[in-house]
Amino acid sequence: MSFKEEIARRRTFGIISHPDAGKTTLTEKLLLFGGAIQEAGAVKSNKIKKAATSDFMEIEKQRGISVSTSVLAFLYKDKKINILDTPGHKDFAEDTFRTLTAVDSVIVVIDVAKGVEEQTEKLVEVCRMRSIPMIVFINKLDREGKDAFDLLDEVEQKLGLRVTPLSFPIGMGYDFKGIYNIWEKNINLFSEDGRKNIEDVISFEDLESPELEKMIGQKSATDLRNNLELVYEVYPTFDRNAYLSGNLQPVFFGSALNNFGVRELLDCFIQIAPAPRAKKAEERLVNPDETDFSGFVFKIHANMDPKHRDRLAFIKVVSGTFERNVAYLHVRHNKKLKFSSPNAFFAEKKEIVDVSYPGDIVGLHDTGNFKIGDTLTGGELLHFKGIPNFSPLHFRYINNADPMKTKQLDKGVDQLMDEGVAQLFTLEMNNRKVIGTVGALQFEVIQYRLEHEYGAKCSYEPLSIHKACWVATDNPKSDEFLDFLRVKNKFLAKDKRGQLVFLADSAFTLQMTQDKYPSIRFYFTSEME
Ligand code: G4P
Repeated sequence: MSFKEEIARRRTFGIISHPDAGKTTLTEKLLLFGGAIQEAGAVKSNKIKKAATSDFMEIEKQRGISVSTSVLAFLYKDKKINILDTPGHKDFAEDTFRTLTAVDSVIVVIDVAKGVEEQTEKLVEVCRMRSIPMIVFINKLDREGKDAFDLLDEVEQKLGLRVTPLSFPIGMGYDFKGIYNIWEKNINLFSEDGRKNIEDVISFEDLESPELEKMIGQKSATDLRNNLELVYEVYPTFDRNAYLSGNLQPVFFGSALNNFGVRELLDCFIQIAPAPRAKKAEERLVNPDETDFSGFVFKIHANMDPKHRDRLAFIKVVSGTFERNVAYLHVRHNKKLKFSSPNAFFAEKKEIVDVSYPGDIVGLHDTGNFKIGDTLTGGELLHFKGIPNFSPLHFRYINNADPMKTKQLDKGVDQLMDEGVAQLFTLEMNNRKVIGTVGALQFEVIQYRLEHEYGAKCSYEPLSIHKACWVATDNPKSDEFLDFLRVKNKFLAKDKRGQLVFLADSAFTLQMTQDKYPSIRFYFTSEME
């Protein structure tokens, strides 16, 4: 197969949802279609149960499991499919945001009864901002849920999407009879034994045919005809370019648990979803079919074995091929590195791979060279964009609780921050260190890991901060800016990259500060533009 064909057959995507909507179940059913696993239940859920809000042992367990589900790859109808795992738990939202920089499209799973939930809203907003192509899968049709049109309205309004259904349910919950596949023009009837297969699909182009009554009964037939008439009237016809540019989102209905409507989703997905796309670097746009390799680190996973402090850095290949034992430039360190055992992911296994193509994810063993956002290339100085830090929501001072172990603590904190577990801010005034996290859970994770992996002890002190705002000005020498630096000195810090951050203690202070210093710009993410 040629290099271009290898690129064209790859589909790298993420599944996003609010916890419990059915992401794990859907992932598993997709893997079953790909023959990557033999039975249901093989993919362990890596979600952190809601009940375990402060159980860090549970987190440790989950962390171990999630290495194996970070990337799930399989072949389906000659397409190489890479599913990137995205934690649904809100405390790990930043992890998910970063993973979204490595996907070429996403599938959004929504629970038919719960509709659009909080976490879905946040994640979809990020995808929308980045114009990532999205397909929506409305799940759990075997249960009583909301009316299909009401749900489509809700998806449009709450998620700000422009939808077009490519399948439509026949009944719902107790009366669920199946779905009409608008994309392929056929009907798939639901039999609750969960052993649906492709032979059960009946091609059905002429909806006026009396055969429809025979199949699903008078009432359902009339309802379906009316519903489809409305669908054709109200919703735009599917247009692939609009989908690819993030301006139109096709919707499918089904039940992941019963493996119903999943094949329809997958078959459409492999036809319409994008192959690896060009990615913006600060210097230029990088196309996947360029011969020189380039890629970036979007995730770092610490190993479970505390004695071997090695980590796995996940690299998305953007262009060219990544080859084993070839030296590549680590741009931030300006040094060449070779990798003798790069991992590729297949189903839930990882194995050493000689060549990887654009769209693929390679796992590199790392002893501390990488941090999230790092670029590797064949030699060109490129910096990929789009891996920002977001303002944390929780802040605490971190103190050294064992003065004999200062070095260990510093190293541990440094490495955990590189992994993206939390963010470190150093106060300008007194060099005190402040840790900022998205969820309160991370403080325990950090404390536990510092002790178990680095032999260091820390304690925390409360700190009331509303938001971290990255500061930008066009005029660093202006009186206004110098006055700001002086007056707000107590609240100024540097992030790990040395960027200036204003730690505002309330929304009010932030507003006052902005009013007083109109020429200074404050951003809630580290990527300021
Ligand atoms: P998540 O990864 O998005 O958090 O969700 P997950 O797939 O774990 O699904 C959450 C719950 O919803 C699971 O039940 C799962 O069996 C159920 N579920 C998923 N798809 C469907 C569906 O199409 N219909 C119905 N009725 N249920 C569905 P659970 O009881 O929480 O977990 P488990 O004990 O079954 O694993």
